Amino acid sequence: MKDIFPTFHKLLGRSDKETLLKQKGMVIWMTGLSASGKTTLAIGLEKSLHEKGFLCQVLDGDNMRTGINNNLGFSEEERKENIRRIAEISKLFVQCGMITINCFISPTEELRNLAKSIIGEKDLTLVYVNTPLEICEQRDSKGLYAKARKGEIKDFTGISAPFEEPAAADLEIKTTEYSFEENLKTLVDFVLPRVKLKEVQ
Ligand code: ADX
Repeated sequence: MKDIFPTFHKLLGRSDKETLLKQKGMVIWMTGLSASGKTTLAIGLEKSLHEKGFLCQVLDGDNMRTGINNNLGFSEEERKENIRRIAEISKLFVQCGMITINCFISPTEELRNLAKSIIGEKDLTLVYVNTPLEICEQRDSKGLYAKARKGEIKDFTGISAPFEEPAAADLEIKTTEYSFEENLKTLVDFVLPRVKLKEVQ
């Protein structure tokens, strides 16, 4: 790029930060419908890892859309820009050795692959929080499904916009088959060995 002089090569590296934090930086990317339980599981995962001495950060769609992404709606293009920005931010966190727990509907393979291509395949672990649409709609914790059914919200995922199931999630949590505590344990047990830094002898 013209007149731009990146200094990445002069900065302390990722492994220096990972050694300091005694953990491996990575993105746990949770995909699933609105009200599927992504954020509740993410909060539980963060708390559990934090108690074990790991530094984490949860990024969530509703939060990011009140700040850096407050100019974005839900068209295909805007969702793409939403995910692109989040992925770039997550990449910075990973370079700092952080465990970043992302909760975004990220409804299509294209969007999830975009995130993967920005963050890097080996640094992104995809978790599919699989809750059937009927259950999400029954819960309707934010009242958005009702509004979408009435046509008051357009392009609503699962109602008037698509949700493609991920073909290759690293972990799938079928939330309705087990209790929340069991699902959280499954998630924590899955993530822990991936974020532990191997001791150098
Ligand atoms: S994504 O599709 O671009 O990944 P994101 O996770 O950031 O979505 O935001 C989803 C949240 O925005 C939902 O949980 C819901 O609270 C809110 N929301 C508002 N309008 C919509 C809509 N049309 N489709 C889906 N979610 C919406």
